[in-house]
Amino acid sequence: MPTFLQQARYCDPQDPKNGILQFASGTDREAFEQWHLSPDIMNNFNTFMTGVRGSRPSWVHWWPVESRILQGATEDEESVLLVDVAGGLGHDAREFKAKYPHSKGKIVLQDLPAVIGNIKRFNGDIELMEYNFFTPQPIKGKERTESQWKKLLSMAGLHVNSFLVPKNNTEGIIEAELA
Ligand SMILES: C[S@@+](CC[C@H](N)C(=O)[O-])C[C@H]1O[C@@H](n2cnc3c(N)ncnc32)[C@H](O)[C@@H]1O
Repeated sequence: MPTFLQQARYCDPQDPKNGILQFASGTDREAFEQWHLSPDIMNNFNTFMTGVRGSRPSWVHWWPVESRILQGATEDEESVLLVDVAGGLGHDAREFKAKYPHSKGKIVLQDLPAVIGNIKRFNGDIELMEYNFFTPQPIKGKERTESQWKKLLSMAGLHVNSFLVPKNNTEGIIEAELA
């Protein structure tokens, strides 16, 4: 490490292909590319991520999931409710599904092919998708929740009085007036 730091003139690394890991491993691959060449390292890493998160209270218990995600979400099994980008082996997605088993809409777990391909047991409630976050996100059209609409309209000087959504949940009306 001292040799690398000296060569880098003690500056913060800026290039994901030129850091201490590359120096020590003699590679110019970025970290995950390099680790994926060693399944044992990847398995250990992913198991560690699941374990370290499992030892702390899950965000689904302390973050306002209902107001931020569930309220105002489309009640349609085919729409996407939650995308966990770079979600590893899916510990967060599983926690979410365990706490909200009856939530409507798909939960999608995205990670690199080597990680997704390594997931052996998963219930069908969570959709697995190989995805590299340096490429455009394939899931488009995320819809705003009620609180996001309220925030957006308040920035435009409007106060939301009500959200009126017909039963079959197609397009609705947001009733707003000058704040
Ligand atoms: C530090 S772990 C975080 C896992 C999980 N989100 C959590 O908070 O416990 C980083 C995750 O990012 C994934 N990852 C790294 N590079 C990625 C990329 N280019 N595209 C998608 N996922 C990537 C890794 O495979 C790994 O699962």
